[in-house]
Amino acid sequence: MEISNVNVFDLKEKYGTPLYIFDAAHIKNIMKLYKDNFKSNQFETEILYASKAFNVKEMIRLVKDNGLSLDCVSVGELYTALSVGFDPKKVYFHGNNKTYDDLLYIINNNVGTIVVDNLDELKCLSDILNNLKKSVNIIIRLNVGVEAHTHKFIVTAHVDSKFGVIYNSNDFKEMLDIINNNKYINFMGFHSHIGSQIFDLACFKSALEKLIGYCKDFKEELVLNIGGGYGVHYTNEDKPIPFDIVSKTLIETCENLLKENNVKIKKLAIEPGRSIVAEAGYTLYTIGYTKKTPNKEYYFIDGGMTDNIRPALYGAKYDCDIVGKENLVKDHTVTIAGKCCESGDLIIENYKLPEAKQGDLLITYTTGAYGYSMSSNYNKALTPAVVFVDNGKSKLAVKRQTLEELIEREL
Ligand code: LLP
Repeated sequence: MEISNVNVFDLKEKYGTPLYIFDAAHIKNIMKLYKDNFKSNQFETEILYASKAFNVKEMIRLVKDNGLSLDCVSVGELYTALSVGFDPKKVYFHGNNKTYDDLLYIINNNVGTIVVDNLDELKCLSDILNNLKKSVNIIIRLNVGVEAHTHKFIVTAHVDSKFGVIYNSNDFKEMLDIINNNKYINFMGFHSHIGSQIFDLACFKSALEKLIGYCKDFKEELVLNIGGGYGVHYTNEDKPIPFDIVSKTLIETCENLLKENNVKIKKLAIEPGRSIVAEAGYTLYTIGYTKKTPNKEYYFIDGGMTDNIRPALYGAKYDCDIVGKENLVKDHTVTIAGKCCESGDLIIENYKLPEAKQGDLLITYTTGAYGYSMSSNYNKALTPAVVFVDNGKSKLAVKRQTLEELIEREL
């Protein structure tokens, strides 16, 4: 088995397991698909990579080199981006509870746009700007009340969501007053993010309809950022829409709605995270022991929920193979279990694979988004290494954590 012309057994030899592998060529292709197709001659467009999906220096370098902007949601994500020279002007900073110190850090580092999530945050920001006598661009995150059909834990736009304000609510009106009375706040427009792993583009049309309707109340042409959420293929249950079609459909939908409503906007932005990195990512494990119980057969791997929490947290499903045995008869129905002291540490359940022996390599697909970024040191597991492959070459992006590093902050 090869990924971007790099042999997977060689990767195991060189870097060990568990190992996250990222196909850089694949990531670059997806970025290009978005860039080539998310364009309009009626308004500016901007594509932000939602870095919460996977934020390490090498990934940010790819984003930078391919000309995308960046969505950061923590000082840590921003710090990582700045450390590789990412232009802060191309950063949108999110979050429902940015602290005073966060805001100060964001402003002092000249972040391009702050996505203000609620009234209290705007009050805090306004005070800071008055003290510093410094201007910033903001957009307001709106809860447009559109609920995407996806896993309930990752829907973010239902009416009681912790994110965003409701248009024309009392909080919203007070926010407009603050904006109108503070010359340091440049109000640019609105943001909405309606959920993640979405396959039905009609949800985005509903959100855009709302946002464009709101634009009518403003004299100036606004920026609309409609978030991310475009679904990817984990298993055959998922039927993703190709991202060139996603891009074109969103642009067309927006252009049509603008025409119908006789409205102009300055810019339309999107924030894909998962769709840029998920399918480019693989996790490689070594199989240790196998075990049969009356009703189950287990293959144990040398990682688990510490490198992929999504099955335990969301019931997420993945495909996998035993490396080098992809074409053998898959006559064992097995459960892939991790090594954590937790019964729920199952990566894949009741899956057809060939017979495995100790030392075989198991590879799981589509683990590029929200895998490494949600990894933990539960049971004091060491965070795996991350390697990028591209056209026959491999490059270590994150070293495997060591035991010394595991306790270096402990006193
Ligand atoms: N913009 C905002 C404001 C977001 O909250 C998110 C994701 C995105 C963009 C990117 O969405 P994407 O294109 O990646 O779907 N941990 C969960 C996903 C949480 C998504 C949170 N927000 C998972 O593993 O499925």
